[in-house]
Amino acid sequence: TVAPVRDRRGRPLRDLRISVMDRCNFRCPYCMPESTFPEDFRFLPPAERLSFDEIVRLARAAIPLGVTKLRLTGGEPLLRPQLPELVARLAALPGIEDVALTTNGVLLDRQAQALRAAGLHRVTVSIDALDPKVFARMSGNRGSVAAVLAGIEAARQAGFPGGVKLNAVVQRGVNDSEIVSLARHFRFQDVVLRFVEYMDVGTRNGWERSDVMTAREIRERLSEIAPLVSLPPTYPGEVARRYRFADGSGEIGLIASVTAPFCGGCTRARLSSDGRFYTCLFASQGADLRYFLRHENPSDSQLTAHLRSIWERRNDRYSEERGQFSGETRQWERPEAGKRGGSRQPRVEMNYIGG
Ligand code: GTP
Ligand code: 5AD
Ligand code: SF4
Ligand code: SF4
Repeated sequence: TVAPVRDRRGRPLRDLRISVMDRCNFRCPYCMPESTFPEDFRFLPPAERLSFDEIVRLARAAIPLGVTKLRLTGGEPLLRPQLPELVARLAALPGIEDVALTTNGVLLDRQAQALRAAGLHRVTVSIDALDPKVFARMSGNRGSVAAVLAGIEAARQAGFPGGVKLNAVVQRGVNDSEIVSLARHFRFQDVVLRFVEYMDVGTRNGWERSDVMTAREIRERLSEIAPLVSLPPTYPGEVARRYRFADGSGEIGLIASVTAPFCGGCTRARLSSDGRFYTCLFASQGADLRYFLRHENPSDSQLTAHLRSIWERRNDRYSEERGQFSGETRQWERPEAGKRGGSRQPRVEMNYIGG
């Protein structure tokens, strides 16, 4: 059948996030710390990455199930050779309404025009700081603020129909000093600036609850610029809560994945660069679609049926189970749940699955 699929919690499958490259030219300590990813780290050889043909086939197979949005991620997706060619093929798939890209921005200056010409709808650039010292600390001493700003400017100039968004992950004591300067810098530019609560993804960043700047705290910091006014969501289940400054400037988004989890409306599946299919950002295991494609020679309808059976079994709601932070009391309701030691299961890494 070609009916849209629902998981065990009644959630449809709408978004497919595709990691096209496991490498990154940054070493953000919260994602790919230098200590675990040294210069000679063995990343995937190209043959182990899904080819463009394989990626397009999988995306096409997911459309009958309900997928309309695709997001290309990494590692750093702009390190994948010939990326615009993939974008063009994905954007041309009937049923795909939105093709987005998440990048650290350093290579965007050079590639923005080609991506726009290929049919990319929108771009999200990560920028965690403006101050060069803080930026260096967040990126593991790679890239530069100037290069990222040039990338953002190139993306604005290219005129993506869905516009440009910026993501800043906030780590208490590391870059919370940048919240206000980022907002001041970007509020009269035509971009959406989103602050992201620091999450316990992967196993390598040594996350502690106390490192999380909550969306509420971020909001309080921002109110120093001007009061914030709420805006309605642009689509049901939108991850960011939207605000504008009372003077009409600066769309701001707050992504409270720790203090206000959004698993109930989570319609996202993730595909790693070597072809594993994950139904949650915090999953420990994914289905090996590369093996299925390369060794079982499935037809398109068998591929769709395979994806359907995986999604139908999905019951993930990690962020809701992690333990709730009460906005009222500002306490963690299950204090033990957020601790490192309390969650020892293997877990997929952020650079591998793309966030
Ligand atoms: P839009 O399509 O523009 O709304 O983007 P998005 O919010 O889906 O995606 P983006 O890649 O910009 O993600 C922003 C932040 O939210 C990142 O830190 C992501 O890791 C986090 N995030 C996105 N999707 C999920 C999710 O399903 N679960 C959790 N826990 N965090 C997520
Ligand atoms: N918590 C929150 N966001 C994270 N990202 C990477 N690691 C984390 C984390 N531990 C962000 C990146 C990028 C997006 C895809 O995910 O900075 O903006
Ligand atoms: Fe940093 Fe993104 Fe690269 Fe991870 S994938 S190291 S968050 S730039
Ligand atoms: Fe979706 Fe898992 Fe994130 Fe919850 S924790 S919103 S189920 S990806």
